[in-house]
Amino acid sequence: MTTLEYLSATADSRHSMQIIETIEAMHKARRTMTGSVGVVLTMGALHEGHLSLVREARAENDFVIATIFVNPLQFAAHEDLNKYPRDLPGDLAMLEAAGVDLVFTPTPVVMYPDGFQTSVLIKQVTQGLEGERRPGHFEGVATVVAKLFNLTQPTRAYFGQKDAQQVAVIKRLVRDLNFSLDVVVFPTVREANGLAMSSRNRYLSPDQRAKAASIWHGLQAAGAAYHQGERTPSGLKSAVSSALDKSMVIEYIAVNTPDTLTEIQSSVEHPLLLSLAVRLGDTRLIDNVLLPLELNTREHLTHLLGG
Ligand code: PAJ
Repeated sequence: MTTLEYLSATADSRHSMQIIETIEAMHKARRTMTGSVGVVLTMGALHEGHLSLVREARAENDFVIATIFVNPLQFAAHEDLNKYPRDLPGDLAMLEAAGVDLVFTPTPVVMYPDGFQTSVLIKQVTQGLEGERRPGHFEGVATVVAKLFNLTQPTRAYFGQKDAQQVAVIKRLVRDLNFSLDVVVFPTVREANGLAMSSRNRYLSPDQRAKAASIWHGLQAAGAAYHQGERTPSGLKSAVSSALDKSMVIEYIAVNTPDTLTEIQSSVEHPLLLSLAVRLGDTRLIDNVLLPLELNTREHLTHLLGG
């Protein structure tokens, strides 16, 4: 279904959600919004993780804008840009049901027309963890997020704990480029078996989904070890690795400070970010928790991740 077909199919529905695809129309629509604006930025293929952010935004703002844009700049050449899951009609139906006022869904050429040559490079907080394994990824993220913030001018922007380093990068972006908005961080939403929801979970077979639940078991095991007094990064990491299904390839398991994402070498009492990336078949999965586990709430995450 095209966007136009979707619009005519849903023309009688009670709440009318604007769907905008151009820069000019976005600027114009934003000028009509007086009051607070909550923004949720996404790459589509929406699930409950995204919708939890939308509901939070709906509850505390006069207007809610969602964006759907699979940003080519944040995918490396060998990554899954072309097979990244897409479901615009399904996404629009979910956003409308969640009470979103406006969806901005530009094409790549609208965002990056001929002659585009600006990039936002954040130097330090992008270095370890995901940034180390995905060179250029956070430069692409920061560039598109800066553009989307300029276009939507949020009062509050909502991000998920699932991408913890992304939160730290965006907090740095907001401070360094003086965006006038609050970053709100919402806890990771999980499947019933504990697997963190992700658009990429669509790639997993039922058998792989069951195995992927061991990531959550590992993070919980580390939480229990922390609770019993384990404070060494090596002890916490081995609590995770011994729970992981043996068919997974571990890219990293890391212990960092939640604010600057500095790697922690020796035992400390401060809050910790425990994060990991694994491969299961062709699918790459990431997850994290703050330790102690009581810190995985909106209030603590918003305050601690990225400082
Ligand atoms: P995407 O992966 O679609 O995620 C959009 C937002 O949903 C991010 O803030 C992400 O952290 C959050 N999210 C994803 N899974 C979640 C889960 N299980 N629980 C809670 N929140 C979850 O992140 C991006 O898109 C892009 O990098 C983007 C910021 C849109 C820039 O292109």
